[in-house]
Amino acid sequence: MSLTTLAERILSKLPARAAEAIYGGARRIPRVRRLLESEYTEMLDSAPIPNVPGDTAYEAIPGTPLSRDEIIAAVTALAGAEEDDGRQNRASGAVYHGGSDHIELLNEVYAINSQSNPLHIDLWPSAMKFEAEVVAMTAAMLGGEVTSDEIVGTVTSGGTESIIMAMKAYRDRAGVRRPEMVVPASAHVAFDKAAHYLGYKQIKVPVGPDYRADASAMARAVTRRTVVVAGSAPGFPHGVIDPISQLSDMARERGIGFHTDACLGGFILPWARRLGYDIPPFDFRLPGVTSMSADTHKYGYAAKGTSVVLYRGRELRHHQFYVAADWPGGLYYSPTMAGSRPGALVATAWASLLSMGEQGYLEATKAILETGAKVRAGVEAIPDLRVLGDPLWVIGFTSDAVNIYEVMARMSERGWSLNGLHHPPAVHMALTLRHTQPGVAEAFLNDLAWAVDEARKTGAEPQTGAAPIYGMAATFPARGAVGDLLRRYIDKIYEVRRR
Ligand SMILES: Cc1ncc(COP(=O)(O)O)c(C=O)c1O
Repeated sequence: MSLTTLAERILSKLPARAAEAIYGGARRIPRVRRLLESEYTEMLDSAPIPNVPGDTAYEAIPGTPLSRDEIIAAVTALAGAEEDDGRQNRASGAVYHGGSDHIELLNEVYAINSQSNPLHIDLWPSAMKFEAEVVAMTAAMLGGEVTSDEIVGTVTSGGTESIIMAMKAYRDRAGVRRPEMVVPASAHVAFDKAAHYLGYKQIKVPVGPDYRADASAMARAVTRRTVVVAGSAPGFPHGVIDPISQLSDMARERGIGFHTDACLGGFILPWARRLGYDIPPFDFRLPGVTSMSADTHKYGYAAKGTSVVLYRGRELRHHQFYVAADWPGGLYYSPTMAGSRPGALVATAWASLLSMGEQGYLEATKAILETGAKVRAGVEAIPDLRVLGDPLWVIGFTSDAVNIYEVMARMSERGWSLNGLHHPPAVHMALTLRHTQPGVAEAFLNDLAWAVDEARKTGAEPQTGAAPIYGMAATFPARGAVGDLLRRYIDKIYEVRRR
């Protein structure tokens, strides 16, 4: 029996805190630590870290420069191999548009602007034009035009930075000692990261049986130190929309901020509503919503590396900014985390919004939601699978009969890359424009039915691919051990490997 299995057996009999404390104490003993390290190494050796073709690895800058042709040949070969294995078309989320004309447009816009940096507005005034217009267009899409308050914002590097920036703004505006944020357990981990970086106490409230935030329980979790409450439209794990209206009213009554995380849904839900879908209110049309995040690099179909964070009013946005009046390097201001920023990426976001237009977003949303309905019905029809909640296009499902991580591993054998979820063990498929192509939904459902049959044969214990690690991570009582394993996984992916 392996050390982890033994430890799991013992620790699982204890309350979580005790298990954590015992793990923390035991790993300080050198012999136990050595045993743990060898166990982690063994687990990670069997972890499927994707391989890169070719036998050249650079561990130092080459003495002789490579030619342009050599470099282009190397990156073309690497990108070609990634495209050839077809996973990009079969991944949950990840590639949101993928159409070659669209990508070529973004590439061209990037190339024209590749040196642009909004930090130097004197050199690249166009960078701020692009950014201001991306913010304005996103604000207008999310209810900015119907409210008397001005909706302002900035472009950030992605959903996580948008959320961290909003949380910083609330923290700094409130000036409360030991500030607290109240979020549903389904909120994106970016809120945990924000709490970690910004010194918040994070109160995570369990979701209801429909996987949506429990508004009454969240109201009860608010204390006099709470400076912000958040909900998702929709949440990453289960793709369901929280009761944003109730939550934001509750926050407003208490005079605190409310953030709608629409990183995933910001560029889908407004169009879904226009298409006649019954979408509950989630944006600035609700008076209690004081900030939002919406990702241009997801369903805005821009290149990777941009998101928009929006605020009701300039005063709140001021608390996001960093300014320095006394630095020997001169007067300095910076709207987001980074100093220098990639103006070219903002330009691709601007180009994406313009080239899609309302018509393009409506058509894309229609296709994605129709595929969502088809996939959801197909998953529900597979014996032993159960869809979680009431999703539209991010379809989460679990099973009471087969090991769902084994299903995920079998799907991987067929080239599908699903997201593994915890609490409860489940997986999800975030549908994108890639999956609206003819035959893709059908292929997904056929493969899924096969994967469930295969998983049925292997029994309860997950056997292949990443499944055993997911299985261990989902159940292992000492969460610190899972964290230690993940840190070593990061070490491993940073290793320069000769293949
Ligand atoms: C609801 C939600 N919020 C935040 C994020 C974080 O976005 P990013 O990965 O761009 O930092 C995601 C990412 O999937 C998300 O789905």
